[in-house]
Amino acid sequence: MPKIIVDGKEVECRDRIPVLQAVLEAGWDVPHYCYHPGLSIVASCRLCLMEMKMPNPKTKALEWAPRLMPSCQTPIKDGMEVRFDSDKVRDNQKHCMEYFLLNHPLDCPVCDQAGECYLQDYSLKFGESTSRMVEAKNKNPKKDVGSKTLLYQDRCVMCSRCVRFCNEVAGTGELAIVNRGSRAEIDVFPGVPLENRLQGNVVDICPVGSLLDKDFLMDQRVWFLRGGDSICPLCATGCAVRVDQNNGTVYRVKPRYNPGVNDWWMCDDGRFGWKYAHDEKRLNRLMVRRGMEVDSPDWSALPGIVRVRLDSLARSTDGGKIAVLLSPFMACEEAWMLASFVRSIAPQSTLAMGPVPYEGEDDTFPKGSSNGSAVKFRVLAEKCPNRRGIEMILASLGGHRATFDEFVKKAGEGAFAGAWIVGGYPKPWVTKELESALGKIETLFAQDLFPSALTDAATIVMPSCSWAERAGTFINAQDKVQPFEAAIAPIEGCQSDGQYLHAIWGGQGLYQAAKVREAMAKAMPAFASVHVPPAMPEHAH
Ligand code: SF4
Ligand code: SF4
Ligand code: FES
Repeated sequence: MPKIIVDGKEVECRDRIPVLQAVLEAGWDVPHYCYHPGLSIVASCRLCLMEMKMPNPKTKALEWAPRLMPSCQTPIKDGMEVRFDSDKVRDNQKHCMEYFLLNHPLDCPVCDQAGECYLQDYSLKFGESTSRMVEAKNKNPKKDVGSKTLLYQDRCVMCSRCVRFCNEVAGTGELAIVNRGSRAEIDVFPGVPLENRLQGNVVDICPVGSLLDKDFLMDQRVWFLRGGDSICPLCATGCAVRVDQNNGTVYRVKPRYNPGVNDWWMCDDGRFGWKYAHDEKRLNRLMVRRGMEVDSPDWSALPGIVRVRLDSLARSTDGGKIAVLLSPFMACEEAWMLASFVRSIAPQSTLAMGPVPYEGEDDTFPKGSSNGSAVKFRVLAEKCPNRRGIEMILASLGGHRATFDEFVKKAGEGAFAGAWIVGGYPKPWVTKELESALGKIETLFAQDLFPSALTDAATIVMPSCSWAERAGTFINAQDKVQPFEAAIAPIEGCQSDGQYLHAIWGGQGLYQAAKVREAMAKAMPAFASVHVPPAMPEHAH
């Protein structure tokens, strides 16, 4: 690994990265706006300038060069010496910050970016407390640039990240810099709004509050939000995300850096598609039907009730007339606990997986890219997070298995006296065929998010939780085993699926996904290690 000297200290770096990236990774807080590791380098903001030793053309001896260099545009070279801790560098940072703030409206109290704004942070740390500007500030209009995005041009620092994102990652090129010098603005072309499926990312990478998310606008001050590390459940890409919540209400979902999966990005389907977690129609009470009566027992009674019912079914039918339909929205741990519990009571039972939803075709970005090396982001047509995980569990448990169609056909023929059916789909999923087969199942355990023909027909209804209230692992389209944690507590009346399945499975105390994975890894070595993305360097953005 190459080594460079920064402010007199030796730093080991990854190969072929810019000095700025290397020093950020080593813990230096170097201000920067235009540099983003996922975009081309333009070195336009001039905030990251450093001093560097270069050979004197006459003596060839290494000396501090007379002018500053952009650290974002200078690749590291073994043995190079640079410094940020110098009057020259600090003066440049102060002057740049004064320039960036010349026309900035300083409307932090009403700005959505307040609390995570790099004008505020840098101004405090690297800027001056006063401005020499006496003229009236330039005022620019707010612009409605896209269906999900607003542009507050006054706040823009012209870093061009948003423009480069639309050109290089989305490949749709809707944004551009129009005019020159102090009149330069970000804008869309007339009649061509910002309308690509990755548009939310321009809000994330805007270092100030210039590009704003209409969905989140004025919803929360960001310092009230707490983030939980999760995985998006809305397609098989399995983007790493952070779920930002306050008091159990999710306000926004943001991408987490996950190299090779979603890098720094996520699509708008995932970013805005989590609203079902707070849908008022969600099931929120445990129900047990006895004839015409519906009872709502305490959750602690559930393991006993389930075991009694399944034991009696297994005895009366020799276990062969019991089936479990797992869902591709379940976490691996949940599916494994449920299937292995049922198999422990009824070894002859049939295991199957519910329908895998598909929508359209895979969508690749930049638009028009098709070969692997050019593709920077994929939104997959497979609209569930864990088909591969459920298939792995089914294969590992062996025994009687069926496809969804076979399960429905057999159920319709009365082959199952008892069935445990898991939904958890964000959209209606019970097919007409499944609906008509349900009447042939005598004892039906239903685990789902929303009321449907399935829950109407069920003997025991267990409300599911949305993925934001659950923890476990999903296996994505690249076969990466990706853990996620619960970002919020289950809504009132519910328990997380992992928790009640853990109790039913016979686990003691609280459900801990990592502990269940340890047990699973004995049969399935893939679960012995999980894919955890590296943390972003503290000062990177
Ligand atoms: S709108 Fe934001 S991301 Fe775009 S150039 Fe301005 S400051 Fe940079
Ligand atoms: S690409 Fe798929 S996993 Fe990623 S954010 Fe979009 S829907 Fe979610
Ligand atoms: S010039 Fe280096 S980050 Fe902008």
